[in-house]
Formats: sequence, C-alpha cells, structure tokens
Amino acid sequence: MAFGGLFSTDMAIDLGTANTLVYVKGKGVILNEPSVVAYHVKDGQKKVLEVGEDAKLMLGRTPGSIEAIRPMREGVIADFDVAEAMIKEFINKVHKRGFLSKPHVIVCVPHGATPVEKRAIRQSVQMAGAKKVGLIAEPIAAAIGAGMPITDPTGNMVVDIGGGTTEVAVLSLGDIVYARSVRVGGDRMDEAIVSYLRRQHNLLIGDSTAERIKTTIGTARMPDDGRGQSMEIRGRDLLNGVPKETEINQAQVAEALAEPVQQICEAVMTALEATPPDLAADIVDRGVMLTGGGALLGELDLALREQTGLAISVADESLNCVAMGTGKALEYEKQLRHVIDYDS
Ligand SMILES: Nc1ncnc2c1ncn2[C@@H]1O[C@H](COP(=O)(O)OP(=O)(O)OP(=O)(O)O)[C@@H](O)[C@H]1O
Ligand SMILES: [Mg+2]
Repeated sequence: MAFGGLFSTDMAIDLGTANTLVYVKGKGVILNEPSVVAYHVKDGQKKVLEVGEDAKLMLGRTPGSIEAIRPMREGVIADFDVAEAMIKEFINKVHKRGFLSKPHVIVCVPHGATPVEKRAIRQSVQMAGAKKVGLIAEPIAAAIGAGMPITDPTGNMVVDIGGGTTEVAVLSLGDIVYARSVRVGGDRMDEAIVSYLRRQHNLLIGDSTAERIKTTIGTARMPDDGRGQSMEIRGRDLLNGVPKETEINQAQVAEALAEPVQQICEAVMTALEATPPDLAADIVDRGVMLTGGGALLGELDLALREQTGLAISVADESLNCVAMGTGKALEYEKQLRHVIDYDS
C-alpha cells in the first residue's frame, strides 16, 4: 500500500433519507446508521445527544426536552444545521483526527437535486471537516454498486427504492440517458400502513411499528391463500383511546401498500416509454435491477414483473449498493472521473 493510502481516511458517503453509510477508501463500508439526530433542548440551546441508531430508537418516544430529527427528506437536506451535525459526528466516528490532512470525500446526490440542494450538501460536508468534496449522481452510484456494466454501449435500467424516493434511471456509456425521481419510497409505504390501519381498523400506530410490519411481513402481492402470514401489533384504539393489541396479515399489508407499489410500477413504465428504442430493447433483453432498502419488500420483484412484463432482479446487498458504488468511484477515481462533479 502506498504511504499516503496508509493514513488517508478518504471516504464516500451515501447520505440517505433513512440511512447514512460511510465507505472508507481501502476498507469498504464501515459505518451504517439511521439518518437521525437526537438533541437535548435546554433554555433554547440545542446539544447533540445521540446520532444514528441510538437516536432512531428515540423517534416518536421523546419527552419535551429531547428532539429526535431526521434531517434528510426525499434524498435532500431538509434541515441544514442538523444535517451538518450528523455528518460531522459520522465523519468523526471513522476519521481519526490529527492524522495528516482533512479527508477527501465523495457524496452521492439524487439525480434531480437542484443546484441549491447540491450546494447545501457540499457545504455541509465541508463544514463537517472535508477538504475536497465530489458529488456523484445516485443512480450511477447505485448501478456501479450493483455491478452493472454501466460503461458499455447498452441500455441498463436501475431502480433505487430508498426511504424518501424511488429513482428510476437508464444508463448507457457511463452516463444517464433518462432519470426520474418519484416521491415514493419506504417512508410512503410506512405511512400507507399507518393510514390503512387507522381507516380500516380504527387503530393508531406509530411510524416505527409500521416500518416493523413492513419489514417483517410486508408484501407487494396478495398472498395466494388470501391471508398469508400474520403478526401481533399494538396501537391505540381510536374509538375509546386505550391501547389495543391486534393481528395484521399479509393480505391487509398488500392492500395497504397497493398504491405505493403501483406508483413504483408506473415510474418504471414511464421510464421505459421515454427511453430511445434501441436502449429500451436492451432493457427488455437484460431486465431491470432494483437497489435500495425498498427493493427488499416481499415479492416486489414479482409484482413488478407481473405489471411491467420485464425481468426484474434485486441487487445483492441492495441496502449497500449506493455506498458501494460511491466507494468504487472513490477507489477508481481516475477511470470514473467523468461521473464525479467537483465544482457545481
Ligand atoms: N426488508 C425490507 N422490506 C421493505 N422495506 C425495507 C426492508 N428493509 C429496509 N426497508 C426500507 O428501506 C428504506 C431504507 O432504504 P435505503 O437505506 O436504501 O434508503 P435511503 O438511501 O436512506 O433513502 P433515499 O435513497 O430515499 O435517500 C426504509 O424505508 C426501510 O424501512
Ligand atoms: Mg438511498
């Protein structure tokens, strides 16, 4: 290993709506935590209490003196100060300060991020201690991370289903031919479960319970037996206000998730229609790659195949794809220079 490489903590960051991952050059993904910051608020002063996993446990459970915040919404920074505090904490966790220079960092941003949003991300990362900050479009990072041959002269479609958004992109020759982001992702699925239970069962549950239902028995397709598996859940009975325990089954979850699933299917179809014919033909041949945490929703690949007629695969380690791809851009910076933006 080169001398510089021994001490450098150059890193790639996937600053997601739900999770932030940090890839350290030469080491791989070494941090993976929820994008949540908990503050202690006293006399109008805010002090960071916890960041990441421990802060997520506090979401929806805080007393008046503590505030748990998710600074990212729909893939971009919604709360600048909180985002900066979070990035700083995460960088500190992986970067041994005092060693040589400040790190060089590559961060991925949604394809549809505006110049203002890009600048906000770049500034936050700089304020958090980075020297040079490069940006890479998330769909490109996702495709690289999923091992797709993005530099070939063929059409490749990648669908990254994150917490805040689903980004559908068609890539060829290392660049984006078409990309569109829809504001449907894991958060929307959680909300759909919350509202289904409220409407159909007069039961009020929190977002964390909804997420647990989704990741435990969530499915995009009606189960063959019309019921599927079930699980016990707790919430508040809206009729009398008292806690209530009940059971929810996969058919109910499928019904609750029908709309967001449909919107993801439509985004894929719209992308295919907007893709030039030769590239669209490649996609029909090669199929579509799903990445992101939402890709893990039960039978989503099957539902997408039924509704679009395309072959669908779920990337290995789909939750890590974007971070791995951003990390690869850092490792092979010379070869992938054209996809990294240093000065927008
Ligand atoms: N097994 C699973 N089934 C369904 N959804 C899942 C599963 N595991 C994780 N998720 C969901 O995936 C989402 C997080 O995915 P990911 O980490 O890719 O998002 P993100 O990168 O933070 O968000 P974005 O890319 O929109 O900024 C969460 O909504 C989470 O609930
Ligand atoms: Mg993401």
